[in-house]
Amino acid sequence: MADGQDEYFLGYRRAEQERLRAQAVQLADEARWLFDQMDLTPGSKVVEIGCGPSGCLEILSACVGPSGSVTGIERSEEAVGMARQMARDLGLDNVEVRCGDARSTELPRDSFDLATARLVLVNVPKPEQIVAEAVALVRPGGWVAFHEADWFAHICEPPSEAWTAIVQLLVRYSEKNGIDLFVGRKLPGLLRSAGLTDIQVKPLIHVYPPGAHRRNILIDFAENLSERIVADGLVEKSELNRLKQALRHDLDDPSRLVVSHLFIQAWGRKAAQAA
Ligand SMILES: C[S@@+](CC[C@H](N)C(=O)[O-])C[C@H]1O[C@@H](n2cnc3c(N)ncnc32)[C@H](O)[C@@H]1O
Repeated sequence: MADGQDEYFLGYRRAEQERLRAQAVQLADEARWLFDQMDLTPGSKVVEIGCGPSGCLEILSACVGPSGSVTGIERSEEAVGMARQMARDLGLDNVEVRCGDARSTELPRDSFDLATARLVLVNVPKPEQIVAEAVALVRPGGWVAFHEADWFAHICEPPSEAWTAIVQLLVRYSEKNGIDLFVGRKLPGLLRSAGLTDIQVKPLIHVYPPGAHRRNILIDFAENLSERIVADGLVEKSELNRLKQALRHDLDDPSRLVVSHLFIQAWGRKAAQAA
């Protein structure tokens, strides 16, 4: 695996890979909408950076058709294996998944019609490196599209002491490790600084009612990060366990309103070369 894996916010538990798979299904309509904004045609060549165990590979495969190609780049070997298996199972012959680093993919420059990534920048330090790589990969006139998170919102009402404490712990851990959980709002500026034009933005927000898989997303994140938060001295293990248990109890209360963090989709074009 490439360097820097330890800095990746969500970690690589098997349960996290399964969560990502389920999440990809839940976010599929929004991904389809995003790709519909671009003039992808049969035969287009696209790359998904940080595709995880499934990402948007199936949707992109349908957008570009059998004569097109979809390249997935992913750092986790386990996720690469799962994504390849998914492509085989679904007969996605136009999808290839490679193990590599999003910051330096070693793919040909100026050659893709679209480079895209979802929920990668919010989990890594120095997101501008991945944006620069995405821009370098697309041809002049090609598209770059991101779907990112911003921990604005994240509402639990009536308030839960455990919810507030766990959000604060995760924000403090991320700050300490150079990760910006509020990167969503910076996305349009990052795309502009990387030289893209025609930048457009769509904000998204969800409500997680009782029974919704993602209602417990904060607990999932706390589980992913438990060992690292404790090792960083941000909380005692026993206190973290108490908070997780209290949060489970609070989220089981069907009268509590749970609102997701904010998501920002932003996309733009690489300037076409002057004639
Ligand atoms: C939150 S997951 C999202 C997965 C997928 N994009 C989706 O939306 O379903 C972020 C993914 O980015 C990958 N990732 C993080 N840093 C990376 C890097 N430097 N190079 C390649 N992949 C990276 C992680 O391994 C993880 O699979």
